[in-house]
Amino acid sequence: MGLSRVQTPQKMNILGIETSCDESGVALVQLLPIQPQVGIELSCLKPFEMQASLKAHALHTQIAMHQPYGGVVPELASRDHIQRMTPLVNEVMAQANLPMESLDLIAYTKGPGLAGALLVGAGVAASLAAALDKPLLGIHHLEGHLLSPFLSDNPPSFPFVCLLVSGGHTQLMRVSSMGHYELLGQSVDDAAGEAFDKSAKLLGLDYPGGAALSQLALKGNPKAFAFPRPLLHSKDLDFSFAGLKTSVLTQVNKLGDQMMAHREDLAASVQAAIVEVLVKKAMASLAQTGDRCLVVAGGVGANQLLRAALQVACEKQKVEVFFPPLEWCTDNGAMIALAAAMRVQYGIEHGTKDYGFEVLPRWSLAEVLQ
Ligand code: KG4
Ligand code: ZN
Repeated sequence: MGLSRVQTPQKMNILGIETSCDESGVALVQLLPIQPQVGIELSCLKPFEMQASLKAHALHTQIAMHQPYGGVVPELASRDHIQRMTPLVNEVMAQANLPMESLDLIAYTKGPGLAGALLVGAGVAASLAAALDKPLLGIHHLEGHLLSPFLSDNPPSFPFVCLLVSGGHTQLMRVSSMGHYELLGQSVDDAAGEAFDKSAKLLGLDYPGGAALSQLALKGNPKAFAFPRPLLHSKDLDFSFAGLKTSVLTQVNKLGDQMMAHREDLAASVQAAIVEVLVKKAMASLAQTGDRCLVVAGGVGANQLLRAALQVACEKQKVEVFFPPLEWCTDNGAMIALAAAMRVQYGIEHGTKDYGFEVLPRWSLAEVLQ
Protein backbone atom coordinates (compact mmCIF):
# COMPACT_ATOMS: atom_id res chain seq x y z
CA MET A 1 0.00 0.00 0.00
CA GLY A 2 1.36 3.45 -0.96
CA LEU A 3 2.65 5.35 2.02
CA SER A 4 1.57 8.65 0.46
CA ARG A 5 -2.11 7.84 1.01
CA VAL A 6 -1.63 7.05 4.65
CA GLN A 7 -1.78 9.68 7.34
CA THR A 8 1.12 8.78 9.60
CA PRO A 9 0.71 9.88 13.22
CA GLN A 10 3.16 12.60 14.15
CA LYS A 11 5.14 13.01 17.32
CA MET A 12 3.44 15.57 19.58
CA ASN A 13 4.74 17.60 22.50
CA ILE A 14 1.93 18.36 24.93
CA LEU A 15 2.27 20.82 27.79
CA GLY A 16 -0.07 20.34 30.78
CA ILE A 17 -0.86 23.07 33.30
CA GLU A 18 -2.60 22.43 36.64
CA THR A 19 -3.74 25.26 38.94
CA SER A 20 -7.12 24.10 40.29
CA CYS A 21 -6.30 24.48 43.98
CA ASP A 22 -3.08 24.85 45.96
CA GLU A 23 -0.58 23.16 43.67
CA SER A 24 0.98 24.73 40.58
CA GLY A 25 1.97 21.90 38.26
CA VAL A 26 3.46 21.90 34.77
CA ALA A 27 4.54 18.90 32.69
CA LEU A 28 5.47 17.86 29.21
CA VAL A 29 4.15 14.61 27.76
CA GLN A 30 5.31 13.36 24.40
CA LEU A 31 2.96 11.36 22.22
CA LEU A 32 4.91 9.09 19.89
CA PRO A 33 3.77 6.77 17.13
CA ILE A 34 4.60 3.18 18.03
CA GLN A 35 7.19 2.02 15.53
CA PRO A 36 5.45 -0.47 13.24
CA GLN A 37 7.05 -3.89 13.09
CA VAL A 38 8.70 -4.85 9.83
CA GLY A 39 6.04 -6.20 7.52
CA ILE A 40 3.14 -4.28 9.10
CA GLU A 41 1.76 -1.67 6.73
CA LEU A 42 1.62 1.87 8.02
CA SER A 43 -2.00 2.07 6.88
CA CYS A 44 -2.83 -0.18 9.83
CA LEU A 45 -1.85 2.55 12.25
CA LYS A 46 -4.82 3.77 14.22
CA PRO A 47 -4.80 6.93 16.34
CA PHE A 48 -4.39 4.89 19.49
CA GLU A 49 -1.32 3.13 18.22
CA MET A 50 0.71 5.81 19.83
CA GLN A 51 2.24 5.93 23.24
CA ALA A 52 2.53 8.74 25.72
CA SER A 53 5.67 9.31 27.71
CA LEU A 54 6.39 11.86 30.41
CA LYS A 55 9.40 13.98 29.45
CA ALA A 56 9.51 16.56 32.26
CA HIS A 57 7.48 17.88 35.15
CA ALA A 58 7.70 20.51 37.87
CA LEU A 59 5.50 21.27 40.86
CA HIS A 60 5.15 23.94 43.49
CA THR A 61 2.95 23.26 46.50
CA GLN A 62 1.38 26.14 48.44
CA ILE A 63 0.75 24.12 51.61
CA ALA A 64 3.25 26.10 53.72
CA MET A 65 1.71 29.40 52.55
CA HIS A 66 -1.84 28.38 53.56
CA GLN A 67 -0.85 26.63 56.78
CA PRO A 68 -1.11 29.68 59.10
CA TYR A 69 -4.75 30.13 57.97
CA GLY A 70 -5.76 26.50 58.62
CA GLY A 71 -6.95 26.00 55.02
CA VAL A 72 -6.63 27.22 51.44
CA VAL A 73 -7.13 30.99 51.03
CA PRO A 74 -8.41 31.27 47.41
CA GLU A 75 -7.08 34.79 46.71
CA LEU A 76 -3.61 33.88 47.97
CA ALA A 77 -3.71 30.70 45.89
CA SER A 78 -4.44 32.66 42.68
CA ARG A 79 -1.71 35.21 43.35
CA ASP A 80 0.84 32.51 44.03
CA HIS A 81 -0.09 30.61 40.85
CA ILE A 82 0.56 33.83 38.89
CA GLN A 83 4.07 34.05 40.32
CA ARG A 84 4.90 30.38 39.84
CA MET A 85 3.61 29.71 36.33
CA THR A 86 6.31 31.22 34.10
CA PRO A 87 9.26 29.82 36.10
CA LEU A 88 7.62 26.37 36.16
CA VAL A 89 6.96 26.39 32.39
CA ASN A 90 10.57 27.45 31.77
CA GLU A 91 11.84 24.76 34.14
CA VAL A 92 9.89 22.05 32.33
CA MET A 93 11.08 23.16 28.88
CA ALA A 94 14.67 23.24 30.17
CA GLN A 95 14.33 19.76 31.71
CA ALA A 96 12.97 18.41 28.42
CA ASN A 97 15.67 20.34 26.56
CA LEU A 98 13.13 21.60 24.04
CA PRO A 99 12.35 25.09 22.73
CA MET A 100 8.89 26.59 23.36
CA GLU A 101 8.22 26.39 19.59
CA SER A 102 8.34 22.59 19.76
CA LEU A 103 5.07 22.50 21.70
CA ASP A 104 2.15 21.15 19.64
CA LEU A 105 -0.70 21.42 22.14
CA ILE A 106 -1.23 23.34 25.38
CA ALA A 107 -3.55 21.72 27.92
CA TYR A 108 -4.85 23.22 31.15
CA THR A 109 -7.23 22.30 33.96
CA LYS A 110 -10.55 23.87 33.03
CA GLY A 111 -12.33 22.74 36.23
CA PRO A 112 -13.55 21.90 38.77
CA GLY A 113 -11.64 23.95 41.31
CA LEU A 114 -11.18 27.47 42.66
CA ALA A 115 -12.33 29.98 40.01
CA GLY A 116 -9.44 32.42 40.41
CA ALA A 117 -6.82 29.69 40.56
CA LEU A 118 -8.23 27.99 37.45
CA LEU A 119 -8.24 31.32 35.58
CA VAL A 120 -4.50 31.73 36.12
CA GLY A 121 -3.66 28.37 34.51
CA ALA A 122 -6.21 28.89 31.73
CA GLY A 123 -4.90 32.40 31.03
CA VAL A 124 -1.28 31.28 30.87
CA ALA A 125 -2.17 28.29 28.66
CA ALA A 126 -4.29 30.39 26.27
CA SER A 127 -1.63 33.11 25.99
CA LEU A 128 1.06 30.55 25.30
CA ALA A 129 -1.07 28.73 22.73
CA ALA A 130 -1.99 32.01 20.98
CA ALA A 131 1.62 33.23 20.93
CA LEU A 132 2.79 29.90 19.46
CA ASP A 133 -0.24 29.53 17.17
CA LYS A 134 -0.91 26.08 18.63
CA PRO A 135 -4.19 24.48 19.80
CA LEU A 136 -5.48 24.81 23.34
CA LEU A 137 -7.31 22.06 25.26
CA GLY A 138 -9.20 22.33 28.58
CA ILE A 139 -9.08 19.20 30.74
CA HIS A 140 -11.36 18.02 33.54
CA HIS A 141 -9.30 17.78 36.73
CA LEU A 142 -10.91 14.49 37.77
CA GLU A 143 -10.22 12.92 34.37
CA GLY A 144 -6.58 13.75 35.12
CA HIS A 145 -6.81 11.91 38.45
CA LEU A 146 -8.61 8.92 36.88
CA LEU A 147 -5.96 8.53 34.19
CA SER A 148 -2.98 9.20 36.52
CA PRO A 149 -2.33 5.45 37.05
CA PHE A 150 -1.22 5.37 33.40
CA LEU A 151 1.79 7.42 34.49
CA SER A 152 3.13 4.50 36.49
CA ASP A 153 5.51 1.89 35.11
CA ASN A 154 2.97 -0.82 35.64
CA PRO A 155 -0.31 0.73 34.46
CA PRO A 156 -3.69 -0.98 34.83
CA SER A 157 -5.81 -1.76 31.80
CA PHE A 158 -9.42 -0.78 31.20
CA PRO A 159 -11.95 -1.40 32.64
CA PHE A 160 -11.44 -0.58 36.31
CA VAL A 161 -13.15 1.06 39.25
CA CYS A 162 -11.38 4.13 40.62
CA LEU A 163 -11.65 5.15 44.25
CA LEU A 164 -10.84 8.84 44.03
CA VAL A 165 -10.07 10.17 47.50
CA SER A 166 -8.67 13.69 47.58
CA GLY A 167 -9.09 16.77 49.74
CA GLY A 168 -12.00 17.91 47.59
CA HIS A 169 -13.56 14.71 46.23
CA THR A 170 -14.60 11.25 47.32
CA GLN A 171 -15.95 9.34 44.38
CA LEU A 172 -16.25 5.82 43.05
CA MET A 173 -16.02 5.95 39.31
CA ARG A 174 -16.23 3.17 36.74
CA VAL A 175 -13.70 3.74 33.99
CA SER A 176 -14.83 1.40 31.22
CA SER A 177 -12.48 2.80 28.56
CA MET A 178 -10.82 6.07 27.63
CA GLY A 179 -13.41 8.86 27.89
CA HIS A 180 -16.12 6.61 29.35
CA TYR A 181 -16.67 7.29 33.01
CA GLU A 182 -19.65 6.44 35.16
CA LEU A 183 -20.13 7.88 38.61
CA LEU A 184 -21.10 5.01 40.93
CA GLY A 185 -21.20 6.96 44.17
CA GLN A 186 -19.79 10.02 45.90
CA SER A 187 -19.77 11.92 49.14
CA VAL A 188 -22.98 13.79 49.79
CA ASP A 189 -21.10 16.28 51.99
CA ASP A 190 -17.43 16.38 53.11
CA ALA A 191 -14.74 14.51 51.18
CA ALA A 192 -12.66 11.85 52.99
CA GLY A 193 -9.62 14.17 52.87
CA GLU A 194 -11.72 16.93 54.39
CA ALA A 195 -12.79 14.55 57.18
CA PHE A 196 -9.13 13.78 57.86
CA ASP A 197 -8.18 17.47 57.75
CA LYS A 198 -11.06 18.76 59.88
CA SER A 199 -10.50 16.04 62.48
CA ALA A 200 -6.77 16.79 62.46
CA LYS A 201 -7.52 20.47 63.09
CA LEU A 202 -9.68 19.53 66.09
CA LEU A 203 -6.71 17.55 67.41
CA GLY A 204 -4.53 20.63 67.10
CA LEU A 205 -2.64 19.53 63.97
CA ASP A 206 -1.63 21.86 61.13
CA TYR A 207 -3.44 22.00 57.78
CA PRO A 208 -3.79 19.78 55.75
CA GLY A 209 -3.40 17.36 58.66
CA GLY A 210 -4.34 14.02 57.07
CA ALA A 211 -0.78 12.67 57.02
CA ALA A 212 -0.02 13.98 60.55
CA LEU A 213 -3.22 12.42 61.88
CA SER A 214 -2.32 9.04 60.38
CA GLN A 215 1.14 9.36 61.96
CA LEU A 216 -0.40 9.95 65.40
CA ALA A 217 -2.80 7.07 64.81
CA LEU A 218 0.12 4.64 64.64
CA LYS A 219 0.41 4.83 68.42
CA GLY A 220 -3.30 4.88 69.19
CA ASN A 221 -6.05 2.35 69.79
CA PRO A 222 -8.55 2.39 66.89
CA LYS A 223 -11.25 0.96 69.15
CA ALA A 224 -10.86 3.55 71.92
CA PHE A 225 -13.65 5.77 70.57
CA ALA A 226 -16.66 4.46 68.68
CA PHE A 227 -16.98 7.10 65.96
CA PRO A 228 -19.87 6.70 63.49
CA ARG A 229 -19.40 4.93 60.15
CA PRO A 230 -21.75 7.10 58.08
CA LEU A 231 -23.77 5.30 55.37
CA LEU A 232 -21.79 2.09 56.02
CA HIS A 233 -24.91 -0.02 55.60
CA SER A 234 -26.71 2.08 53.00
CA LYS A 235 -27.49 0.13 49.83
CA ASP A 236 -25.95 2.79 47.57
CA LEU A 237 -22.29 3.66 47.00
CA ASP A 238 -22.49 7.15 48.49
CA PHE A 239 -20.44 8.49 51.38
CA SER A 240 -21.07 11.04 54.11
CA PHE A 241 -18.35 12.34 56.40
CA ALA A 242 -19.77 15.56 57.86
CA GLY A 243 -21.31 13.76 60.87
CA LEU A 244 -17.99 12.21 61.74
CA LYS A 245 -16.37 15.60 62.16
CA THR A 246 -19.23 16.69 64.47
CA SER A 247 -18.79 13.53 66.49
CA VAL A 248 -15.04 14.20 66.87
CA LEU A 249 -15.82 17.77 67.95
CA THR A 250 -18.27 16.51 70.60
CA GLN A 251 -15.69 14.03 71.90
CA VAL A 252 -12.92 16.65 71.96
CA ASN A 253 -15.17 19.05 73.90
CA LYS A 254 -16.13 16.27 76.32
CA LEU A 255 -12.46 15.47 76.99
CA GLY A 256 -11.61 19.15 77.53
CA ASP A 257 -8.17 19.47 79.14
CA GLN A 258 -7.71 15.71 78.84
CA MET A 259 -7.82 15.81 75.03
CA MET A 260 -4.04 15.83 74.56
CA ALA A 261 -3.72 12.66 76.64
CA HIS A 262 -6.13 10.87 74.27
CA ARG A 263 -4.95 12.39 71.00
CA GLU A 264 -3.40 9.20 69.63
CA ASP A 265 -6.51 7.12 70.39
CA LEU A 266 -8.72 9.81 68.88
CA ALA A 267 -6.60 9.87 65.72
CA ALA A 268 -6.59 6.06 65.41
CA SER A 269 -10.35 5.88 65.98
CA VAL A 270 -11.16 8.57 63.37
CA GLN A 271 -8.87 6.96 60.83
CA ALA A 272 -10.41 3.53 61.44
CA ALA A 273 -13.91 4.95 60.85
CA ILE A 274 -12.98 6.67 57.56
CA VAL A 275 -11.01 3.70 56.24
CA GLU A 276 -13.70 1.15 57.10
CA VAL A 277 -16.30 3.07 55.09
CA LEU A 278 -13.97 3.63 52.11
CA VAL A 279 -13.00 -0.05 51.94
CA LYS A 280 -16.55 -1.36 52.33
CA LYS A 281 -17.91 0.92 49.57
CA ALA A 282 -14.98 0.28 47.23
CA MET A 283 -15.47 -3.48 47.53
CA ALA A 284 -19.24 -3.10 47.10
CA SER A 285 -18.67 -1.13 43.90
CA LEU A 286 -16.50 -3.93 42.47
CA ALA A 287 -19.17 -6.46 43.36
CA GLN A 288 -21.74 -4.28 41.60
CA THR A 289 -19.81 -3.77 38.35
CA GLY A 290 -18.11 -7.17 38.28
CA ASP A 291 -14.74 -5.50 37.58
CA ARG A 292 -11.56 -7.22 38.73
CA CYS A 293 -9.40 -4.15 39.14
CA LEU A 294 -9.44 -1.27 41.63
CA VAL A 295 -7.36 1.89 41.22
CA VAL A 296 -6.85 4.32 44.10
CA ALA A 297 -6.18 7.98 43.23
CA GLY A 298 -6.00 11.21 45.26
CA GLY A 299 -3.98 12.30 48.31
CA VAL A 300 -5.81 10.07 50.81
CA GLY A 301 -4.50 7.16 48.75
CA ALA A 302 -1.25 7.74 50.65
CA ASN A 303 -2.86 6.54 53.86
CA GLN A 304 -1.10 3.38 54.97
CA LEU A 305 -4.08 1.88 56.79
CA LEU A 306 -6.29 2.40 53.73
CA ARG A 307 -3.66 0.77 51.52
CA ALA A 308 -3.22 -2.20 53.83
CA ALA A 309 -6.97 -2.70 54.32
CA LEU A 310 -7.68 -2.50 50.57
CA GLN A 311 -4.84 -4.89 49.86
CA VAL A 312 -6.31 -7.47 52.25
CA ALA A 313 -9.89 -7.00 51.00
CA CYS A 314 -8.85 -7.21 47.33
CA GLU A 315 -6.72 -10.29 47.89
CA LYS A 316 -9.70 -11.95 49.52
CA GLN A 317 -11.89 -11.15 46.52
CA LYS A 318 -9.07 -12.00 44.05
CA VAL A 319 -9.20 -8.48 42.69
CA GLU A 320 -6.15 -6.50 41.59
CA VAL A 321 -5.50 -3.19 43.33
CA PHE A 322 -3.32 -0.38 41.94
CA PHE A 323 -1.83 2.42 44.00
CA PRO A 324 -0.15 4.90 41.65
CA PRO A 325 3.04 6.44 43.10
CA LEU A 326 2.15 9.21 45.52
CA GLU A 327 3.52 12.01 43.34
CA TRP A 328 0.82 11.13 40.78
CA CYS A 329 -1.90 10.66 43.43
CA THR A 330 -1.81 14.29 44.50
CA ASP A 331 -2.40 17.22 42.13
CA ASN A 332 0.22 17.60 39.39
CA GLY A 333 0.69 18.82 35.81
CA ALA A 334 1.63 15.39 34.46
CA MET A 335 -1.88 13.99 34.84
CA ILE A 336 -3.28 16.97 32.89
CA ALA A 337 -0.75 16.60 30.06
CA LEU A 338 -1.39 12.85 30.02
CA ALA A 339 -5.19 13.24 29.92
CA ALA A 340 -4.75 15.63 26.95
CA ALA A 341 -2.38 13.17 25.25
CA MET A 342 -4.86 10.32 25.72
CA ARG A 343 -7.77 12.40 24.39
CA VAL A 344 -5.70 13.04 21.26
CA GLN A 345 -4.44 9.45 21.11
CA TYR A 346 -7.98 8.06 21.19
CA GLY A 347 -9.22 10.58 18.64
CA ILE A 348 -11.63 12.25 21.09
CA GLU A 349 -10.34 15.83 20.92
CA HIS A 350 -7.42 17.73 19.42
CA GLY A 351 -7.81 21.19 20.96
CA THR A 352 -8.89 24.45 19.39
CA LYS A 353 -7.32 27.63 18.12
CA ASP A 354 -10.25 29.59 19.52
CA TYR A 355 -8.38 31.18 22.39
CA GLY A 356 -11.47 32.55 24.20
CA PHE A 357 -10.97 30.23 27.17
CA GLU A 358 -13.37 29.55 30.01
CA VAL A 359 -13.08 27.83 33.37
CA LEU A 360 -15.77 25.73 35.07
CA PRO A 361 -15.29 25.80 38.87
CA ARG A 362 -18.22 23.39 39.24
CA TRP A 363 -18.16 20.79 36.51
CA SER A 364 -19.39 17.21 36.55
CA LEU A 365 -17.24 14.62 34.79
CA ALA A 366 -20.43 13.26 33.23
CA GLU A 367 -20.61 16.45 31.15
CA VAL A 368 -17.21 15.88 29.57
CA LEU A 369 -17.38 15.29 25.86
CA GLN A 370 -16.66 11.63 25.07
O1 KG4 B 1 -5.37 14.87 46.01
P1 KG4 B 1 -4.85 15.87 46.99
O2 KG4 B 1 -3.40 16.15 47.01
O3 KG4 B 1 -5.50 17.27 46.80
C1 KG4 B 1 -6.76 17.54 46.34
O4 KG4 B 1 -6.95 17.54 45.11
O5 KG4 B 1 -7.60 17.77 47.20
O6 KG4 B 1 -5.33 15.37 48.43
C2 KG4 B 1 -5.03 16.08 49.60
C3 KG4 B 1 -5.70 15.36 50.76
C4 KG4 B 1 -5.65 16.19 52.03
O7 KG4 B 1 -6.93 16.18 52.60
C5 KG4 B 1 -4.64 15.44 52.90
O8 KG4 B 1 -4.84 15.57 54.27
C6 KG4 B 1 -4.89 14.02 52.45
O9 KG4 B 1 -5.03 14.13 51.04
N1 KG4 B 1 -3.78 13.12 52.80
C7 KG4 B 1 -3.90 12.10 53.67
C8 KG4 B 1 -2.62 11.50 53.78
N2 KG4 B 1 -1.77 12.19 52.96
C9 KG4 B 1 -2.50 13.17 52.36
N3 KG4 B 1 -4.96 11.65 54.36
C10 KG4 B 1 -4.77 10.59 55.14
N4 KG4 B 1 -3.59 9.97 55.31
C11 KG4 B 1 -2.50 10.37 54.65
N5 KG4 B 1 -1.34 9.74 54.81
ZN1 ZN C 1 -7.08 16.90 42.76
